[in-house]
Amino acid sequence: MSLTATRPRLGFLGLGWVGRSRLDAIAASGLAEIGAIADPALPGALGSLDELLEAAPDGIVIATPSALHAEQAIAALERGIAVFCQKPLGRSATETRTVVDAARAADRLLGVDLSYRFVEAFRVARDVVRSGELGEILAGDLVFHNAYGPDKEWFYDPELAGGGCVIDLGVHLIDLAVWTLDLDPVEVRSRLRGHPVEQLATAELDHVRLACSWNLHAGRDAVIEASFYGSNGAVSVRNVNGSFYDFRCERLCGTSTEVLVEPPDNWAGRAAVDWARRLAAGEGFGADADEYVRVAALLDRIYGR
Ligand SMILES: NC(=O)c1ccc[n+]([C@@H]2O[C@H](COP(=O)([O-])OP(=O)(O)OC[C@H]3O[C@@H](n4cnc5c(N)ncnc54)[C@H](O)[C@@H]3O)[C@@H](O)[C@H]2O)c1
Repeated sequence: MSLTATRPRLGFLGLGWVGRSRLDAIAASGLAEIGAIADPALPGALGSLDELLEAAPDGIVIATPSALHAEQAIAALERGIAVFCQKPLGRSATETRTVVDAARAADRLLGVDLSYRFVEAFRVARDVVRSGELGEILAGDLVFHNAYGPDKEWFYDPELAGGGCVIDLGVHLIDLAVWTLDLDPVEVRSRLRGHPVEQLATAELDHVRLACSWNLHAGRDAVIEASFYGSNGAVSVRNVNGSFYDFRCERLCGTSTEVLVEPPDNWAGRAAVDWARRLAAGEGFGADADEYVRVAALLDRIYGR
């Protein structure tokens, strides 16, 4: 198949809340052809991954419960099928590395839905940090408190979810810290509260502090923040009015504040669409996939495993 000549045909595995949203975003982009869908709970859909792979799509979009991601992604990659997977790609660095190695061996494009990289406010904050204008970054503060918890039972089963709020929400904070600061901490300290999976976690990765939770008395739907304080100034992204979707980015200097990015910004399906665009352009394995292992290794250190 010549990917540059035709639109890639995609299969969709798992069509719950996120799977449906990513399918809609890719369909609206027109970049790919929507092929078969597999979800045992969905009437009219295929019942299994094997049946989906039989249809020989060019790529599959995985949005199943987290424990299934690695095994399903590897099964597709070993058949030469590209993968876009929901986070977390694996429940540990070892599991994540196995998937990345399978993508490398098959030379297939592997994407993970680390969706906040595609939010304009976080992208601009990163550009400001990396321009060097803030001087040395002295402290980072990243927060994701969700006043609700997940509404599906599997999220509370450590085997099925791989953990609680850290692997669910903290993964985004770790990814943003690594992506923005190229963070490679010497020291990782953490405190996790809750059973059988953590509902609240705080961590220090050298000079960067992380906090995330489910079901916290946040006084609003969510508190989401990434602030980077440098020797010459700071940049801060915060959600607006407790929103899960609206973010403002500000440059801070002494007591003054300059707004750099205001909502709205329709970012939710952008990571998926970006993967579809790269697949349509004929891209194979990208070395950026190694960052997924780096993030997973930091998750392991926060979990103390
Ligand atoms: N990128 C993000 O910011 C983001 C946000 C929310 C959730 N997620 C991730 O998305 C994934 C799905 O979350 P969700 O809230 O949509 O869950 P969900 O429970 O709504 O959806 C999962 C779907 O997978 C289906 N499924 C289960 N086993 C299957 C199998 N073997 N084959 C095919 N389908 C199967 C279920 O029937 C269900 O429809 C999770 O891993 C979660 O961490 C990512």
